Amino acid sequence: MKTQFLWSLLLPLMAVVIHKVKSQDAEASPTLSEISSMVQDLKNVVDLLANQLMMQQLIVEEKARFDGASGIKQIRMDIAGTRPYHTPSHVRDSVAAYHDHANYDRTVGMGEISAVLNGVEFKTRHNDFKLVMPCTSDESYHCIENIPFPPVPPEVTSKTTVEEQIAEMKEWFKAFRDQKSYVRDYRKYFKPVMCYLEGTWTKISPDGKLEESFQSDRHALDATDWADLHQKTRFTSYSGRKSQLENFAFLPVAVMNITDGIPKMAQWNYRILCHPISKDISTAVFRVRDDIGSRLAYQSDFETHSKTRRARFQLNPDNSKFWPDEHLFVRGLTGLLDQIMEEIPGKNNYPAYLEDNIFDEPFYRLEPLENGTEVMLNAARYHRWYQVIKAGASGRKSRHRSYSDANVFMAMTDKDEVVGMTFKKCNQNGRDCKWADQKWSYAIPLEIIYLTPLSLWNPYNLKNWGKDPDKMVVRAEDGTLRTGAQTVEKAYNGVNEYTYYLTPNEFFASQEAGAADTTRKGVGVLDQNGEVKITSSSGIRVFINIPDVGLIRQRYPIYPLTTDGSNIQKEVEAMKDLLMEQSRYIKMYRDPPQGGGTTTVPVEGTDLLLTTSTTTQNPPGEHFHEVVLSPEEQARFEAGEMFTVTTSEALGHSHSLRLRYDKYCGCYEIMRCDQQPECWDGHMMELFQEV
Ligand SMILES: *[C@@H]1O[C@H](CO)[C@@H](O)[C@H](O)[C@H]1NC(C)=O
Ligand SMILES: *[C@@H]1O[C@H](CO)[C@@H](O)[C@H](O)[C@H]1NC(C)=O
Repeated sequence: MKTQFLWSLLLPLMAVVIHKVKSQDAEASPTLSEISSMVQDLKNVVDLLANQLMMQQLIVEEKARFDGASGIKQIRMDIAGTRPYHTPSHVRDSVAAYHDHANYDRTVGMGEISAVLNGVEFKTRHNDFKLVMPCTSDESYHCIENIPFPPVPPEVTSKTTVEEQIAEMKEWFKAFRDQKSYVRDYRKYFKPVMCYLEGTWTKISPDGKLEESFQSDRHALDATDWADLHQKTRFTSYSGRKSQLENFAFLPVAVMNITDGIPKMAQWNYRILCHPISKDISTAVFRVRDDIGSRLAYQSDFETHSKTRRARFQLNPDNSKFWPDEHLFVRGLTGLLDQIMEEIPGKNNYPAYLEDNIFDEPFYRLEPLENGTEVMLNAARYHRWYQVIKAGASGRKSRHRSYSDANVFMAMTDKDEVVGMTFKKCNQNGRDCKWADQKWSYAIPLEIIYLTPLSLWNPYNLKNWGKDPDKMVVRAEDGTLRTGAQTVEKAYNGVNEYTYYLTPNEFFASQEAGAADTTRKGVGVLDQNGEVKITSSSGIRVFINIPDVGLIRQRYPIYPLTTDGSNIQKEVEAMKDLLMEQSRYIKMYRDPPQGGGTTTVPVEGTDLLLTTSTTTQNPPGEHFHEVVLSPEEQARFEAGEMFTVTTSEALGHSHSLRLRYDKYCGCYEIMRCDQQPECWDGHMMELFQEV
């Protein structure tokens, strides 16, 4: 790969040099010193070109970074209509080509996507990832472990008959559906995991061998080495063909460095893993995002849309069913998503602790501990916000990774397999130079999946052969194929990882599968006495449909979009809010909407000017801030609502204040200051009215 690249540059250049040498003096052959000076010239040219290639890569990435954010961009098109939004965006029948392979024990159905991570655009193969996580006690590169399935409630297994077990299991699903832990404490048996998309620049092995960076039971890259994959991808893009099995991926290659004149190439690669979240996540904290093109294409009202595979969600940063009012967070929007991502390690796996403190500029966690102590950032875990703390007037500054990408999470690594970059810092006269190498991987959240007791519930006590190959399960002793039909000859002989039919058939409603699904019902499986039991798939589904319980969502997609970072999309989202919530935003209209429809008239009154107390704390120095409340906001506060407002700026900072109106004193109290119990610079927890 490397040598091939070099030769492709060198050969034409050599030809030029030889031609030059010949024409200089047709008689005499060049001297050794002439040749060596020409080789030096050649090296310089190669250096120059390789540098320009690195620059070119930067140009492409920077363009993607300025135009958008990290996120999913596009899925494969398989339908079109009379309007542009009839063709798929990130969603068609389902978001990100989600589907079910519930006949596998831990496979999660997800088709091809194109995505951007920190400015690197790529296209995946058909994903169908597995419920696996980085190793918990081993830092080896790409070491993974199975995510443990939650146990089955003993209240279910202690029932004597299968009918009774089914009835009891339904009660647990009802408690989960209604989030009523006081009825049955489902939180021990319904466990949320966060699945995420991770990418980084990796070393290319000398033979160019392809590295499959994550497992799928159903799909693998269909190429002999990286060069083969790139050629196949080029051809399919050139000809518009598709890999029938969707097993090609577009994964770019880049020149990352030039060492002694040799360009160091790196291969972009990605994987999808999951992480068991350390605490329960209430299903009430998800809110549906309005992907309005999809709703219009399918003529779904908001409520209907939210119960389809096309719905995408947002996590409430406050981890509450009460959404904070839409507002700016001055110190950065950290919240539930950041807390979960911060549990997830990059390429060094769970044991890792790495600090980002090159050149004595240590980075701290954005949020101090409960008792106010500032702690160093563990850069080996996925994060996007951090802070620098300096003595003097500027004090604490919160910072976000990347220039404008609000979606990207980054984690540091020191793994050999990852290609890093070097940063050189010299003093003013170019002396006293220091070098630092850093390596990073990037991630975005994809979805939260609730694991349920169905993964292990085995009321017929069927034999689970685990990884054991087909021969036990799908081959009879005479070699004939067992198909899972409901006869002794044809029923599967127990279950294994990809013939995973443990659940009694009657537990599920009759109609559940979608187009790309391999979920099956009414499967015959022999129990350990050789009797045929009728069962159904026990793996992961987008929706579990249970008679008497209803539709239960198991997968909550929360992935961001690349368009989130586009300024056009920012305006489109603002227009969507204005149009879809007219009465709420009526005062924003330059001209009130005509022809009826709106029922709310603007609240009468004048703006209210409030100020914080003056603080003399240094840093930052003596100052105060102002807050202006509109008549509508005053009315909402007076009606008992609490929400967050942003102060004016003073001495280079402002605060986000969560306020409450106290009707006895007629005053405004500060409940939270920048999401903290107190303002960091010592303002009192009350606002004052100018008199
Ligand atoms: C990149 O090349 C420079 C110059 O040869 C070298 O000093 C540096 O260590 C290299 N960086 C990496 C990350 O390989
Ligand atoms: C704050 O809490 C941390 C961790 O619990 C502890 O190590 C530290 O000593 C505490 N600091 C203060 C000032 O109490």
